[in-house]
This record gives sequence, structure tokens and C-alpha cells, in this order.
Amino acid sequence: MIHSEPALDAATADLLPHVVRLGPNLWGASFKLMKMVPAHHIVDTALKTGEIGPDTVIVESTSGTYGLALAVKTALIGRRLVLVTDPAMDDRLCRRVADLGATVEMCRTPSALGEYQTVRLTRLAAVRERYPDSFWPRQYDNPLNPASYSIVADHLNRQLGRLDALIGPVGSGGSMCGTAAGLRRYSPGLRAVGVDTPGSVLFGQPDQVRELRGLGNSVLPGILDHTAFDEVHWCPAGNAYRHTRRLHRTSGLFHGPTSGAALAVARWWADRNPEARTLVMLPDQGDRYLDTVYDDSWLDAHPARRADGEPHQVTLPTGESSWTWMRWNRRRLTDVVDRPGPRP
Ligand SMILES: Cc1ncc(COP(=O)(O)O)c(C=O)c1O
Repeated sequence: MIHSEPALDAATADLLPHVVRLGPNLWGASFKLMKMVPAHHIVDTALKTGEIGPDTVIVESTSGTYGLALAVKTALIGRRLVLVTDPAMDDRLCRRVADLGATVEMCRTPSALGEYQTVRLTRLAAVRERYPDSFWPRQYDNPLNPASYSIVADHLNRQLGRLDALIGPVGSGGSMCGTAAGLRRYSPGLRAVGVDTPGSVLFGQPDQVRELRGLGNSVLPGILDHTAFDEVHWCPAGNAYRHTRRLHRTSGLFHGPTSGAALAVARWWADRNPEARTLVMLPDQGDRYLDTVYDDSWLDAHPARRADGEPHQVTLPTGESSWTWMRWNRRRLTDVVDRPGPRP
């Protein structure tokens, strides 16, 4: 039989998550590469508006999966991509984006304060001068990032109907703010639980060196809407790793450590709210972490990586390295702390 429907390209077909049951009242939204959602939407919109023309070079600053998603998208539409990054972008990711045709501009020297964010932005400006016809997707400030998740929310609603809680990691805030807003159209009482990590400024902790990547941040993204969140958890790396491995062993689902962090919180939350229909976001796959999180000798080299335990409740963000949580109650950041972290 010949189908009249045009076939989706591989990346578009993978855009939406699989919904998997993880417990009596807990479901997971299992993505192959969640960042494809904003990458598709931002680039497709710029193609429509003409911001991306036939010779436009796309330029972005990233050290994570957003760079990979943009590399997939730009390969599909046949445009050049320059990714400005730093040593946190691991070798496997660099090789994958290079195979997709992207150019990697590596910033190897941090600023005097020991961070790369400002160094990357300076380099990005220099790259854009080199290519006057360039487009910068700006995932941290672009409202199309959260807006892109409305299709995810529609999909989740079609699969699950009413939901009482959404739990997920927060990096730019796009996925949690956008998905929560979309789901609240169907489930107005939905509670949003953000998962950050100790030493991240996103929800008011002081900036410190962090082990987990992908969630947490040293700068405050313009799109992060704090008033979307009912609760916030600061989950340390050890709890995230333990739950990443447990998920794999008990369900075969092979995800990265930001999924593990979200799941640590989601299991704890769903146990305490047995009547609530709870959904957890699982943003990427485990391949990049085979030599780390999925390697017992790597875990054993650092006892904190095996950490376990329960969270304790706080009334204000602290600088503690253990797992803490607080009722955020949909407040703005400035309603909670006097000195919010820096903007990008
Ligand atoms: C693997 C992974 N998980 C979670 C997140 C957080 O998603 P968001 O930026 O939508 O807050 C990111 C962000 O880059 C990520 O790369």
C-alpha cells in the first residue's frame, strides 16, 4: 500500500516524547533530545520571517544539547552553524556536531572570575562580525523557546488527560515554563515543581561550582518565569546519578543525569502525593554519560557521586550542597531574594 501522507524527516518524527508509566501515579515524558523542540521552532520561525535566508550563518553559544539540536536542524535545512562553546562541551558531543557539519569555536580560557559565559558572548559577537548575514537563536532570551513546548503539552494532554503535577529540570526554563503553561490550559490546577541543583543562581542560590550540567545556571535567563513554579528542589549530583542508573536498571530507559535529578524529585513527590497524577520530564539519552554516570569506577572515585538521602525543607534558598526544597508559591525571584544573579 502506498501512503499519501508525506513521511516526516527523522528529527521531526522524534520531536515528541514517549509517555511511559513509572509508578502507580507517576508517568515520564521520555525525550530522545528535548532541545529539538525549541531548535525546530526557533529556526522554522526565522525561515518564515526571512531572518534566515539562503546564505545565513546560524551562530549560538552553548555547551550542551541545544548545540546538538541546532546542528541536526541546520544540517536538515542546509545552513552553516557556528557553535561557540567551552571545555564543558564533551568530546563526544563535539564529534557529533562536527559530523553534522557545524563549526565549533572553543573558548579555552575562562574570565578572571573563572566562568566562560561572558567569554563565550564576547567570542560570539566577534563571530557575528565575521558573518554579517548571521542569525543568533538566543535560547535564554527568546520567547519562542517556551512557546515551542505548546505542542508537547498538547501531546501529553492527548496521552494522559488531566494532570496534577509537572516536575522537570530547569536550565533555560523554556521546557518547564512552556510545558506548564500549555498543560494548565487543560489542567488549571497543575502544580509545577522545578528541579535545580546546589550552586545555581536560577532560584536564588549563590553561584558555585556545579557538577551537574544541563540544569542550573550561573546567569539568569530572560525567559525563566519564576511565577510558573509552585515548588523548587535543589538536587545534588549524587542523587541524580543514583536515579539515572536505577531508571535504567528497572525500566530499561537510558537517560542522562538531568533526567535522574528530575526523577529523584518526582519519585519523592509522587510518594507523598499518592492521589496526584504526576508527570516527569526526561530530556536526553544516556550515550554521552557511558564513561561517567554509567561507569561504576568513575562513581566510586568520588564518594559524593554515590550520595543518597531525602531532601529537607527550607524557607529561603541556601548555599547548602545537600538536597533542599522549598515552597516557591509562584513568586517572582525578587520576592524571594534581595540580590538575584546576573543576566546573560
Ligand atoms: C539534558 C538537559 N536537560 C535539561 C535541560 C533544561 O532544559 P531547559 O533549558 O528547557 O530548562 C537542558 C538544557 O539545556 C538539557 O540540556
